[in-house]
Order: sequence, then C-alpha cells, then structure tokens
Amino acid sequence: MKKFLVLLCSLAMMLALVGCGGGEKKAETPKTDAPKVLRVGTEPTFAPFEFQKEGSSEFTGFDMDLIRAIGQQLNMKVEIQNLGFDGLIPAVNAGNIDLAISAMTITPDRQKVVEFSEPYYTSGLIIVVNKTDDSIKSIADLENKRIAVQIGTTGAAKAETVKGAKVTNFNTGSELFMELKNKGADAVIVDSPVAGYYLAQGGSETAKTVGDVMEAESYGMITKKGNTQLMDQVNKALNDLKKNGVYDKIYQQWFGETAKK
Ligand code: ARG
Repeated sequence: MKKFLVLLCSLAMMLALVGCGGGEKKAETPKTDAPKVLRVGTEPTFAPFEFQKEGSSEFTGFDMDLIRAIGQQLNMKVEIQNLGFDGLIPAVNAGNIDLAISAMTITPDRQKVVEFSEPYYTSGLIIVVNKTDDSIKSIADLENKRIAVQIGTTGAAKAETVKGAKVTNFNTGSELFMELKNKGADAVIVDSPVAGYYLAQGGSETAKTVGDVMEAESYGMITKKGNTQLMDQVNKALNDLKKNGVYDKIYQQWFGETAKK
C-alpha cells in the first residue's frame, strides 16, 4: 500500500510537471555539446552543385552534401538560405550569414574582400549554343552575338571581354538555358560541369557545348573578411573529409567518378 502511495504521488508530481511544462525547460542551463548553428548562403539554381528539385524546397547537390558533412564534422547545425549570387559576398561581410558555398570561383578580386577556403572543386567555363547552330565554334565566333550569363559570375566577366557582344545578365542559372532555347540568346557562358549536367538531364535535345573548357577555375567557400577562425575550422573539416573518404563518396555520387588529385 505504501509503495502504491509513493507511486501515485510521483505520478501526480510528474503530471503536474508536464502540465506546467514548456516555459521552464528553457531556463535549464544549455548543454555545452549542443550544436551551434552555421548560417549558410547559396544561390540554388546551379545544378549539380546547388538546386531544389521540382516541387521541393529542400536544397540538394554536391555543395549541399559537402557543407552538411562539414557541419557534422564541426558539430554545427547547418541552416541553408537562398540568396542571389551577387548578394552572397555582401551577406557574409554584413554578418547575415556565416559562410557561403555556391560553386564560387576563387578569384584575386574576390580574395581581396572575403576569406576563401582551400579549393574543393576544379572547374572551368564553357560555351553552350543551340544544337542547330553551326556558326559558333569558339569564343572568337561570339563577336557581336547575344550572350546570356548569370549576374556577378566569372561567366559574366568572360562575356564582357567579347567584342561587340550583347551580354544579358540573369539572376538565376536556370534562366540562361531557357533564354538560349527560346532563341533570346545565341550562346550561354557557364561553368562546364553545370552545362554538362544540363545536357545530360535532357538539354542535349536542343543544345550542345562548343570549344574547349576555358579558364582553370577552383571553387572555394567564403566567410567574412578576417573570420579566419571559422575558415580554419572549415578547412580542417574539409581535409578530414578528404582523408576519411566522405568527400570522395559525395563526389562520386554527383559526378560518377573520383576527384582528380
Ligand atoms: N563559378 C562561377 C563564379 O564563381 C559561377 C557560380 C554560380 N553559382 C551559383 N550557385 N549560381 O562566378
């Protein structure tokens, strides 16, 4: 009987606790091993690096898997935000996000204003034209032509060097191929793996790449200028993932081959 009473009492106490629950929980001292949030920005119209599958708001792609793996390595909770590509550098420097990963090429100009990670992917630029167009075989043939590019990208900078070209800057990567298909542009200058993915996903019915891959480019993640503390952690995590095989696994998943070393 006594036992039963004790049981009943503790049950009542538990119910009371549950009843007034919620609010008090927050007063508990925070666990020191609770993951910190890593606010990450990306421009997600750049498959296979960062994109949202049709009808889904989830971010997917090589960069997305990589940053989530880095977050896990650092015991940080990765929260991804959708931003314009040309807004990523201002956003890290304003402190609105901690880091950006967005297939961003490491360039001397950008290095002046942000911290870059070690290179995590080797890329380059390529020209995409309509399949039926035989007038364009290389960048020299783009003179006086209409070129579609994404705003603020290395592809946009490349297009600006073409004499007499009419360059149109689009906010998203997906618009480039649409513009080409609709004959609003004669060519697109974009990162070669992005062109390759587009063609493989059905784009090759109407489009093709021409010429060689131009420019040797490496992608890096960025943090605010001076935030070497976070960047050191990110670089260490990236190296760990390269050593323990996780990087290779993600690479293979998206590109079907292992990274050139
Ligand atoms: N690699 C190019 C650059 O850095 C294009 C990157 C575009 N990235 C994107 N997620 N839209 O300029």
